[in-house]
Amino acid sequence: MPNAYISGTGSFVPPRVVTNDELIKQYGIDTTDEWIIQRTGIRERRFAEPGVFCTDLALPAAQQAIERAGLQPHDLDMIIYATLSSDHCFPGSGVYLQRKLGLCEGPNAKFVPALDVRNQCSGFLYSLATATSMVKSGGAKHVLVVGAELHSAALDLTTRGRTVASLFGDGAGAVVVSATDEDRGIRSWNLGADGRYADVLAQKIWDISKRPFIPQNEQGIGQLAPEMMYALMDGKLVFKNAVERMMTVLMEACVKNGITGADIDLFCFHQANLRINQWLQQHLGIPDEKVVHNIQRYGNTTAATIPILLAEAERDGKLKKGMKVAMIAFGSGFTWGCVIADW
Ligand code: UT7
Repeated sequence: MPNAYISGTGSFVPPRVVTNDELIKQYGIDTTDEWIIQRTGIRERRFAEPGVFCTDLALPAAQQAIERAGLQPHDLDMIIYATLSSDHCFPGSGVYLQRKLGLCEGPNAKFVPALDVRNQCSGFLYSLATATSMVKSGGAKHVLVVGAELHSAALDLTTRGRTVASLFGDGAGAVVVSATDEDRGIRSWNLGADGRYADVLAQKIWDISKRPFIPQNEQGIGQLAPEMMYALMDGKLVFKNAVERMMTVLMEACVKNGITGADIDLFCFHQANLRINQWLQQHLGIPDEKVVHNIQRYGNTTAATIPILLAEAERDGKLKKGMKVAMIAFGSGFTWGCVIADW
């Protein structure tokens, strides 16, 4: 059985920087730079311009990951795309990305399978686990795994929506998971979910049990109340569960691998709130040089946080071959996961 390792990483964020002050000035949100920094660590985030799709952010990230893996798009055997902000309701974003990568064109067109994963903040780790299983089973040699989000279009950028709107930003990360005979790569994955909390962080644009499934006016035009249109979150409950689940799943992963936290060279925590990660770091006694963050610059990019961290850490020389890496995420569902890899 081959090992599965991350052969290339890539990331892309849209150029427009939106600072906390701009949330106040441009959108009129009743908040302060101080409140957002103190509670979350976020200083700014990126917003895509109208006309940009989530897959437009994913494309350069994917191209970079493929190039850094020393591959061409046509070397891919599968695409796995994690997002909660897909281009359309259906089809999934994976097929749009496949098309944009040029895989469907020319005499060498390669109609590789494209799978969309809907696991929000844990989506990248669920996708990584799936790609690993595909590669280890011999079903695929190179799998492109993308985590990408275009949140800015669906944020309630008013004071009413400030709790959620001040947290999220746009961005994309990608990795290629490849087969290798070397003794390296993804060693384990631990994934979990607790559907009792499915409504605690959710965006319920429609209710398929209702007729019509979206309320309509007399002309038959769909009408969405803000509480249906935008994500709602019980922040404190999410926070409490995030620290508990992330700590537990990391411990489970260590036990599975016969290691302790001290054996891990780099921790890539999901970037939902700097305070969550600082709490984990403190309680586990992890030194600063073993942790990477980007929430200060990008906010919470959901499925994209960890692949962006990986790409930036590799680019900055903080992530090198031979290092043991822990990736830990928690989010809506609730869902969570930890992947341990020898880089
Ligand atoms: O990736 C998905 C997972 N998501 C998370 O992990 C998020 C976890 N939760 C959190 O990060 C925090 O709960 C938040 C940062 C979202 C909120 O922090 P909090 O300390 O839990 O604040 P809160 O929601 O309890 O709100 C406290 C106060 C409220 O005012 P009142 O009712 O006490 O008068 C809010 O209305 O802060 C107010 N508030 C704000 N004030 C200024 C909420 N958002 C803002 C804001 N600016 N942006």
